[in-house]
Amino acid sequence: MAVLEVKDLRIYYRTLKGYAQAVDGVSFQIEEGEYLGLVGESGCGKSTIAKAILRILPPNGEIMGGAILFNGQDLVSMKSSDLKKIQWKEISMVPQSAMYSFDPVYRIEDQLLEAIETHEKTTREVALSKIRELFGLVGLNEKRLKDYPHQFSGGMRQRAMIAMALTLDPTLIIADEATTGLDVIVQDQILYRIKEIHEKMKKTMLLITHNMAVVAENCDKIGVMYAGKIMEYGGESVFLNPYHPYTLGLVNAFPSLTDTGRELISIPGYPPSLLNPPKGCRFHDRCPFTKEECVKEEPLLRLVAEKHFSACHYPDQVDRFRDLAQKPETWAKRE
Ligand SMILES: Nc1ncnc2c1ncn2[C@@H]1O[C@H](COP(=O)(O)OP(=O)(O)OP(=O)(O)O)[C@@H](O)[C@H]1O
Ligand SMILES: [Mg+2]
Repeated sequence: MAVLEVKDLRIYYRTLKGYAQAVDGVSFQIEEGEYLGLVGESGCGKSTIAKAILRILPPNGEIMGGAILFNGQDLVSMKSSDLKKIQWKEISMVPQSAMYSFDPVYRIEDQLLEAIETHEKTTREVALSKIRELFGLVGLNEKRLKDYPHQFSGGMRQRAMIAMALTLDPTLIIADEATTGLDVIVQDQILYRIKEIHEKMKKTMLLITHNMAVVAENCDKIGVMYAGKIMEYGGESVFLNPYHPYTLGLVNAFPSLTDTGRELISIPGYPPSLLNPPKGCRFHDRCPFTKEECVKEEPLLRLVAEKHFSACHYPDQVDRFRDLAQKPETWAKRE
């Protein structure tokens, strides 16, 4: 049984202008010990999914349909008393901005201790030794435990947040843009630590990022999101041999560590408004290969290769797409 199974999830935000269809029919699974990366441009619904899993959506965010099964139990319909046993203890999150996640007036050590002691019956000694161990695991010197948050650099605070997410030994850890805003070297070191935690502690992980290279280097499985939908889904073949034009565009847009000489090409234009998303394929107005059918008919995710799904009407034209997608003029045409 999958640790997490998201089924046809729909989450809309109520706004003055109507409903923003932030997540619209998303499904994915994370098996025990698996590391799934959700990738996509800003505003495509990644954090909304993370918040729905932890059931911390803002009041105007409504789960309109679907299920979120955690070890087979549906978090969407779960009573809040049962939910409390799972939130943070079984499922924890390293949030998008660690800057504001620590209380500035308490020492880091006290905040980690509080996280353990409010949830677990344990002695101070046991809790402290656990905290020291976690600090080592994320690459922080335990001498710094007595520091206040402002004495930490951004990277150190983010490491401390990862330690915080691990305090209750959760089954599933969600890291939402956990390294955004840090410099590239620090990002890399932190992602390496997260991967190490995944491997050594056999944690099931969900990594959320807008950076294709980050998922390619870290995750076993990938979901590529665009405007509230998953466009492509599967194992490493998703970034090695993409089928969807959007994924091809994303791969082009990020430098990879192995192919540094490659020219970066960005996808022109912006994601659509989710208040009134385009009919047919949501990517059709930015896709260089759009045909009439793409405007009329929504392509559904379908199997295109082994354990590899793509939501494009034209999987049979993938060779041509891959070839053309490498040429800057292919994308420039639509500007
Ligand atoms: N509280 C809210 N009320 C109304 N709309 C919202 C709210 N929160 C998010 N949205 C909208 O929902 C969509 C998805 O937002 P979400 O934060 O999930 O995106 P994301 O993929 O995490 O983006 P980013 O990469 O910038 O973090 C966006 O269009 C956003 O504007
Ligand atoms: Mg986000």
